Amino acid sequence: MGFIRAMTPARLLFLLKLNGKAAGSTKTLARAGCSVCFRRNVCSSPSRLQNCMSAWVIDQYGTNGVLKYTEEVAIPTVSSTSEVMIKVHAASLNPLDIAMRGGYGAKLLKLRRDPLSVMDTVSEFPLILGRDVSGVVVDCGSDVTHFAPGDEVWAAVPPWKQGSLAEFVTLTEYEVSHKPKLLNHTEAASIPYVANTALSALVNAGGLCRDNSSDKRVLIIGGSGGVGTFSIQLLKAWGAHVTVTCSQNAEGLVRGLGAEEVVDYTTGDAAEQLQVMEKFDVILDSVGRETEQWAVGLLKPWCGAKYVTLATPLLLNTDSMGLLDGAFNAVFSLQAKAIQSIISSGAFYRWGFYAPDGPGLDEISKLVDAGKILPVVEAQFPFTQVPQAFQKLEQGHARGKTVVRVAEEDDRQDDELIENIRRDTAESEQEGQETAKQN
Ligand SMILES: NC(=O)c1ccc[n+]([C@@H]2O[C@H](COP(=O)([O-])OP(=O)(O)OC[C@H]3O[C@@H](n4cnc5c(N)ncnc54)[C@H](OP(=O)(O)O)[C@@H]3O)[C@@H](O)[C@H]2O)c1
Ligand SMILES: *[C@@H]1O[C@H](CO)[C@@H](O)[C@H](O)[C@H]1NC(C)=O
Ligand SMILES: *[C@@H]1O[C@H](CO)[C@@H](O)[C@H](O)[C@H]1NC(C)=O
Repeated sequence: MGFIRAMTPARLLFLLKLNGKAAGSTKTLARAGCSVCFRRNVCSSPSRLQNCMSAWVIDQYGTNGVLKYTEEVAIPTVSSTSEVMIKVHAASLNPLDIAMRGGYGAKLLKLRRDPLSVMDTVSEFPLILGRDVSGVVVDCGSDVTHFAPGDEVWAAVPPWKQGSLAEFVTLTEYEVSHKPKLLNHTEAASIPYVANTALSALVNAGGLCRDNSSDKRVLIIGGSGGVGTFSIQLLKAWGAHVTVTCSQNAEGLVRGLGAEEVVDYTTGDAAEQLQVMEKFDVILDSVGRETEQWAVGLLKPWCGAKYVTLATPLLLNTDSMGLLDGAFNAVFSLQAKAIQSIISSGAFYRWGFYAPDGPGLDEISKLVDAGKILPVVEAQFPFTQVPQAFQKLEQGHARGKTVVRVAEEDDRQDDELIENIRRDTAESEQEGQETAKQN
């Protein structure tokens, strides 16, 4: 049964090619994985299965003017047995969205989407931005075990996949997690991408975890933005001692989230103020550039202390220098710095990266439901105002996160949608079995 279910989309696509008239049937289209929108009018009926969805897309790289609202993007249907299709209720923005809008990482991300360059002539456009999602599962591949239609979930969408500023997003089961019950979708969407980044940076690069952080001194350079406000809370939940740098007017916010010591980097020399403090076990740098000059000197010498920077040059290098040169240059500059910092003080210089990690989000979900991590939503916009949301983020000085409400919360509509997809799947499974019998 699972086998037939998995085979269904390909079979339908085949049928569609054979029989052009079938293209008008919304019933089969949604599972056909087709990339063409045949009939505009079928999209307008919410009670029938759609084949198109609304989304904010870009068709070229540039400034805010390239953001375009459309209702004619093909729905990302479940096309492999481990995929989960999510109806997006809320998405949030990250600095990466602004960078990607301008073409950041285009070469490397295109390669990741299409490793063998089989689609060399196929463009990455229309590209959907948006890295965070909170929503409801509407369809699952046959091997999906942890989720079922109707489940409320959250996830960070990897940059090489189509984003969440759309009605639907489809991810692999491993990338998805059950959303905390205490949060509504708007609040939940503020967390996944910064959480997966902080987890990957602090655990993989920084060597910290829940069980060995209680005697650690951690410095967060840049405590007031998305990554900072989340990391403070995570480290406090793990029992670490947290010092942050931020602007003066963010001191109340970061102290409220648990930071013990706060250095205002806007008045006087932050490095000087930090140098008189006890040294640190781990530094998480979300600012980069000049901070790198003095930060490594604040680490405890000769005891495996780590400087982890999120200002990584990998994607930028590949854009300005071409793929191979760029990757080589980035790795070379990392090694040069790593060797230097080990020799001079016995500390490690490491890069922190976002990495998709649903099980990691499960842990965060527990901390949120235990009241140990709060969402920090600074601004929220309706789906009609995505350009305004980008503008807000681009102005800088974030104090937490900017969230876009993609669907106003309405459980009844979700139930109807799930019921439609279920019926459609059952019908195509039955057709599949009949075809199998005939053969
Ligand atoms: N490598 C990766 O995979 C990865 C993943 C996620 C994020 N990142 C990067 O990490 C950085 C932070 O991300 P985010 O989502 O937290 O950004 P964000 O929400 O825009 O926050 C940035 C924060 O930094 C503060 N700030 C600016 N200059 C500062 C300085 N010199 N010292 C201390 N604070 C300063 C800003 O406030 P004020 O200007 O008012 O002080 C703002 O609150 C971004 O550069 C992002 O691209 C990298
Ligand atoms: C969800 O939470 C946000 C932020 O706290 C709040 O502004 C909003 O009203 C809530 N939405 C619903 C539908 O309860
Ligand atoms: C903390 O625990 C993690 C996971 O067990 C381990 O990889 C890391 O080396 C430990 N770090 C320290 C500083 O003890």
